[in-house]
Amino acid sequence: MHPNSKGTFYITTPIYYVNDVPHIGHAYTTVAADVLARFKRLEGYQTFFLTGTDEHGQKVEKAAQERGVDPKAHCDEMVKRFQSLWQRLNISNNDFIRTTEDRHKKVVQRILQDLYDRGEIYQDSYEGWYCVPCERFWTEKDLMEGKCPDCLREVVALSEKNYFFRMSQYQSWLIEHIQTNDRFILPSSRRNEILGFLQSPLEDLCISRPKKRLRWGIEIPFDPDYVTYVWFDALINYVSGIGYGSDQNTFSDFWPEAIHLIGKDILTTHTVYWPTMLRGIGLTPPKTVFAHGWWTVEGKKMSKSLQNVVEPNRLIDTYGPDAVRYFLMREVPFGMDGDFSHAAMIHRMNSDLANDLGNLFSRVLSMVIRYFDGTIPSPSSLKEIDQRLLEIARKVLAQLPGQMNDLAFNKALATVWEMVSATNKYVDETAPWSLAKEEKDRSRLSTVLYQTLESLRIIALLLAPFMPTTAERMWVELGMEGNPWERNLDQDGSWGGLAPGRKVVKPTPLFPRMEAPKNEKGI
Ligand code: MSP
Repeated sequence: MHPNSKGTFYITTPIYYVNDVPHIGHAYTTVAADVLARFKRLEGYQTFFLTGTDEHGQKVEKAAQERGVDPKAHCDEMVKRFQSLWQRLNISNNDFIRTTEDRHKKVVQRILQDLYDRGEIYQDSYEGWYCVPCERFWTEKDLMEGKCPDCLREVVALSEKNYFFRMSQYQSWLIEHIQTNDRFILPSSRRNEILGFLQSPLEDLCISRPKKRLRWGIEIPFDPDYVTYVWFDALINYVSGIGYGSDQNTFSDFWPEAIHLIGKDILTTHTVYWPTMLRGIGLTPPKTVFAHGWWTVEGKKMSKSLQNVVEPNRLIDTYGPDAVRYFLMREVPFGMDGDFSHAAMIHRMNSDLANDLGNLFSRVLSMVIRYFDGTIPSPSSLKEIDQRLLEIARKVLAQLPGQMNDLAFNKALATVWEMVSATNKYVDETAPWSLAKEEKDRSRLSTVLYQTLESLRIIALLLAPFMPTTAERMWVELGMEGNPWERNLDQDGSWGGLAPGRKVVKPTPLFPRMEAPKNEKGI
């Protein structure tokens, strides 16, 4: 661990299937993880942020077949779409793991061999039902009206030999683990859902697929006729990505202080399969698995057939990366479902970003340029109204870490906006343009403008995890050096960090004002 750090923090996103291009759902988890990673770095935690791609299994094999290309060539092509999107969105991941990389495959095979050697994996013949799109087996009683209980699609009858992990033996341990660690599954409604699920007997987990049915996977080390079940392979990325079995120092720095962000649809795999797999190899489960909600689009489920899939690249083209990041984090409480619409996006952009924040920023900087030739003035004695602004900043700074710990991103942004509003109100009430008329004594005008600039500096610092590009522009235009997200919240959050005598930069609008959408589809 770095000697000056407050501790370590490890955050992950799901690794995305490369069967398709990235959509708003993928961008959502990745942005949330990035915001938290950046916030923790700002707080002084040594942070490791991992994302990547899930490249094996039937879905990917089928997508490659449909395009008539080799699966690995397909993955190599698709992975670039994710990587370039993350660059455009300013995602600060420390590493990117692909499950087709040797460093990952080796760990999966070693874990399988170890479990097999210790009798935790056995072979058995399986008879039941199989859902091809979900790549999951179901028993007769699991089915809902004869269909897959997860996706409600057709299932096929299947009888074959496979390998099984003795997951069932961990049922009571898992229930106790969930009950005694109230931050293991968040939000708590999801925790109750899994505790409910665990009231029925837990079965062993089928972890292999015969090669005659699926070739695209990691070969089972003790039986070359089989490949590994894609979920057993994929979940292991969370430890192979930080050096499990190869770089023990890094691994023990970051495990088990981990938080996995996932969507609500992959809750069971992360809170039942994953902790029992870890238990099987003698590792402690991650600290938290947080399941967020799903986005609909203009009130409808997003689907290819409805042609309403929201492509993040198009959103970035229209609104810019920071406005997209802001919208995703501000619009819906993390954990709840939300609806994307261009009208809502434009509303947030115009009212919160262009108006409240952007106008305030350019108004204040323009006054410093007009009245002080761009030089940051020195403050003198504070009045009650100045003190009040300072108190609000202190309150906001004190509230934010707790809200971020709870992954209440929308509340954290609302809290920062309390400061934006208070600063707007302060400018209106102190009316620097009137003070400027009093030519003889400039001290009051100096104090008022200094207070306002200082408030904007702290706002830039707090917004850095959410909107890194905008925060950097604000920081530089306020005459500060470097990047706000490379600062430290404790040191730079205290009032008075702005140096009088330095020059501000002539501002350009932080956000453009957008026209209201032209038609009801918002396009
Ligand atoms: N490959 C697996 C994850 C393996 S993690 C060890 C997978 N990939 S995925 O690409 O299909 O989905 C990735 C994430 O996108 C999931 O967390 C899922 O919840 C999320 N979303 C997919 N559609 C979504 C919305 N419409 N809204 C929000 N998130 C959505 O599952």
